[in-house]
Amino acid sequence: MKKRTIVIAGNWKMNNGPKEAEMLTKEIISKIKNKNIKYILCVPFIDIDIMYKAINGTNIKLGAQNCHWEKSGAFTGEISVDMLKNIGIEYVIIGHSERRQYFNETDESVNKKIISALNQGINPILCVGETLKEREADKTNDVIYNQVTKALENVDKESIKNVIIAYEPIWAIGTGKTATPMQANEICKYIRDIVKKLYGENISDNIIIQYGGSMNPSNAEKLLSQDDIDGGLIGGASLKADDFTKIINIADNITRNE
Ligand code: PGA
Repeated sequence: MKKRTIVIAGNWKMNNGPKEAEMLTKEIISKIKNKNIKYILCVPFIDIDIMYKAINGTNIKLGAQNCHWEKSGAFTGEISVDMLKNIGIEYVIIGHSERRQYFNETDESVNKKIISALNQGINPILCVGETLKEREADKTNDVIYNQVTKALENVDKESIKNVIIAYEPIWAIGTGKTATPMQANEICKYIRDIVKKLYGENISDNIIIQYGGSMNPSNAEKLLSQDDIDGGLIGGASLKADDFTKIINIADNITRNE
């Protein structure tokens, strides 16, 4: 039986301006059948305003894809957590591998962002994951351990309850190459064990751990049925209303049938 509510989050990345965002969201809303799970759309900053109108009256939550840890100041091009809070954003993706890889995000900056988001009452979706090279060198567990423990440094027992962790093997992101349900579950369980070591069993039993990396309607059921996988962070498939809502409806069925 699924112990935790499944959480499906779409990560639109750098796709969809306000017009497309509105159209896609309306299509998604028209195709979602059930409401037993939680779902979040993490959209570009410029879409947030129109998205509020589009999701009005639904249980879709909105998320951003990045934030800066300082309140305000001379940080050209950045958006602070305070600003996100002011417009009512509830979730923010932090430490996505694309940000680590292309924008030099480090475990330290990830940690600052996590702390800052939690201080503002925004729920972070913390992304961790290994490269193919690291996996092949048998370093997956070490990499994950480091990323998780460093990201959560100084996060206390109360705040950790608001963190979602997404395990996203880098070799599976946008490649069409998915981790097998067993591989994905193994690392999600390992992450839960790290959380248990840091915060105790009760918290580790309740924390949401998602899998991300080429999740689509054909592999979602097997992945989401695994004991330690509590949801998905979905890139490519979240850009197509059909695919995204199929995954949502699959997750919903898993919740109801179990
Ligand atoms: P993908 O992206 O589903 O396109 O692999 C997942 C992500 O990067 O969050």
